[in-house]
Amino acid sequence: MSAAGDAKLLDREELRRLFDLRSSYNARSGGGYTDDPFPKWHDLRAQAPLHEGIVHDLTGYPGDWTFQGLPYPDKAHFSTFSYEVCDAAFRDPETFASAPAEEPSDNREAAVMNSILMMGGAQHRRYRALVQPSFVPAKAQWWINNWIEQTVHALIDNFVDDGHAELNVDFAAAIPVLTITGSFGVSVEQALIIRESLMVDPMKVVEILAPIVTARREHAEDDLISVLVEAEYTDEDGVLHRLSDAEIYSFAMLLLAAGSGTTWKQMGITLAAILERPEVRDAVRDNRDLVRPAIEESLRWQATDPMFSRHVTRDVDFYGLHLPQGSVIHLCLGAANRDPSRWAHPDDYDITRPPKPALAFGSGPHVCLGMHVARAEMAVGINALFDRLPNLRLDPDDEPPRYIGMYERGATAIPVVFG
Ligand code: HEM
Repeated sequence: MSAAGDAKLLDREELRRLFDLRSSYNARSGGGYTDDPFPKWHDLRAQAPLHEGIVHDLTGYPGDWTFQGLPYPDKAHFSTFSYEVCDAAFRDPETFASAPAEEPSDNREAAVMNSILMMGGAQHRRYRALVQPSFVPAKAQWWINNWIEQTVHALIDNFVDDGHAELNVDFAAAIPVLTITGSFGVSVEQALIIRESLMVDPMKVVEILAPIVTARREHAEDDLISVLVEAEYTDEDGVLHRLSDAEIYSFAMLLLAAGSGTTWKQMGITLAAILERPEVRDAVRDNRDLVRPAIEESLRWQATDPMFSRHVTRDVDFYGLHLPQGSVIHLCLGAANRDPSRWAHPDDYDITRPPKPALAFGSGPHVCLGMHVARAEMAVGINALFDRLPNLRLDPDDEPPRYIGMYERGATAIPVVFG
């Protein structure tokens, strides 16, 4: 049975160990940052469209970067906090490339650069086109019926009789991992091993996926590995290819890395934002047409990954500064999403805003492949909570959630009662 199907077997204590909130805000991404960055980002945006320096330094957070040091310390760095500049850079991959020009320095870096996230031009278009059909809006229901719905309800089953829960870890954390591993045809036990090994021992993930890939090559099923096994592309010489096992593993790893922590934290942010405002909570609970606007507004108001970077491929004058070839530009989309030239009262979480694209999922050719899956997970999750726990509210006797983190933002614990 797939990970999503037997999620009931998940032990709550085991979940708490695996998805510990403190360790999930790690040093590598500025997990120790607990201030509100938005006032500073407003000041920076008001001063100039583009600045010399890196987002965390400009924000006044020297950081606790203990993991692998800061990337590219020898290069020139620039940062922007404006919507227009972020969007322009995202949409010009010829000038602002996802990967640096130089060769990767080790295997780990090489594996990352082999993923579609780092590819450019025709190669990126070709690989992305292979997987895109499984991620279009019309496919959301496939994800919901096969994996999301069961996972969400199994997790609520775990705490429904207790009268209280901590929604960030008891609920939001496991949904994205179990959805993705479920779509690979992986069992819950193995899904938890994947969760544990992803950062420390990626070969374990390959060990788990290898027999599934072999089995699907012999006999396809209705899952994502089968889609990848059967996908075909024609190279520039007109030769037809199928993805190699190694390419499938690397894509699977990218989905896990790009889709797990992000959707977890964005779901937590959305739940906290709704529950903190009793009038919004009641409105959303009583009118489910508001679930989608509540999610879109959370993506604008507090994007979980507020900064993405690009490598400058040629000398260019850009919004008042000269950017030398080889320099790095950091696009602070978290700040861009509160640009007052685009949104009135940008710091307010207001689910009644007229719809307008924001940048939480990026823009241009690398725009998030999994955005409709992420939206479906959040919408199914929020709807199921209000269906089954209509009296859901923040625990008045516990600490309210706060928003923390520099490059991975999210809510602290979200203690709720529903008796
Ligand atoms: C709320 C949750 C999520 C957020 C905020 C988010 C954000 C982003 C952003 C900003 C990018 C663009 C990166 C860049 O331009 O350099 C991106 C790319 C990507 N995301 Fe997501 N993501 C989320 C969920 C997911 C999920 C659930 C999946 C998979 C199931 C996923 C898979 C990907 C992939 C494969 C790419 C690379 C696309 C490409 O390079 O063409 N993401 N995501």
